[in-house]
Amino acid sequence: MAYTVPDLPYPYEALEPHISADTMRFHHDKHHQTYVDRANAALEGTGLEDASPREILTRLTEFPPDRRAAVTNNVGGHYNHTLFWDSMTPGGATKPARDGKLAAAIRETFGSFAGCTETIKEAALSQFGSGWAWLVSDGYRVLIVTTSNQDCPISDDLEPLLGIDVWEHAYYLDYENRRADYVDAWLNVVNWDVVEQRYADAPVPDVGDILERLVTVCSKERRFGEVTMEEARQHSTELKALAGWGPMAKVGAVARGWSDLAVNMQKRKAATVAELDPGIVEKAAVELWIVPPERSMV
Ligand SMILES: [Fe+2]
Repeated sequence: MAYTVPDLPYPYEALEPHISADTMRFHHDKHHQTYVDRANAALEGTGLEDASPREILTRLTEFPPDRRAAVTNNVGGHYNHTLFWDSMTPGGATKPARDGKLAAAIRETFGSFAGCTETIKEAALSQFGSGWAWLVSDGYRVLIVTTSNQDCPISDDLEPLLGIDVWEHAYYLDYENRRADYVDAWLNVVNWDVVEQRYADAPVPDVGDILERLVTVCSKERRFGEVTMEEARQHSTELKALAGWGPMAKVGAVARGWSDLAVNMQKRKAATVAELDPGIVEKAAVELWIVPPERSMV
């Protein structure tokens, strides 16, 4: 069945004064409609007309090169905007519940909720040209990434929890070129209840997926499953030399994680990470921030 633009879950004017009714009307009725029309056209004749946007976005490489950009941009545009409308609300929770799992994950990554929103803003401002800044889950923790155009984190195995549209069409009528003012205003209308639910529903990757992820160890790119004990040990030593350097605040903990991994491999006589028990691999992935490397992390 062809895609359609979902109704807004609130009236056009509901987000004023932060986002005007005019912006919402243009953005939802015109821009989103265009993505939907072009997505339907791009999928026609592919045999995937009935697939959900989520499924399409995880199978982009299956499309022929001459169609892939149109599918990526327009199915992505449809998915991203649908998520965007649902991420906002008049008078919703202003932050995640303090004792909830999302709040704990945010504290783990950013230190505090304010640290999280500041990082979202920094990411939104750092995105050059059109794109999005996202709070995502990699299955273990929350992270902030940016994407260009209508690329979606789902295509990189990251679950989008919250995304801010930083295309000029999202804010130009209200804020002209003042993207920072728009981001500040938008943070007032985020529906944290919905973000919390998305985090609760976020899929946890299985061990096979973790072993396939690319990591840089001793300046070489490797599949995590292929890393040897010697490499883990040497990488730990290299990282320890960086510990304490400001921007690498977490590096000491990561260095210890690589060292623990090497010890585990030695104890269990595992030649590579892939030979370790799944529980140990998962624990190491959490400690070592084994996340998909395709996006620049903020
Ligand atoms: Fe948009």
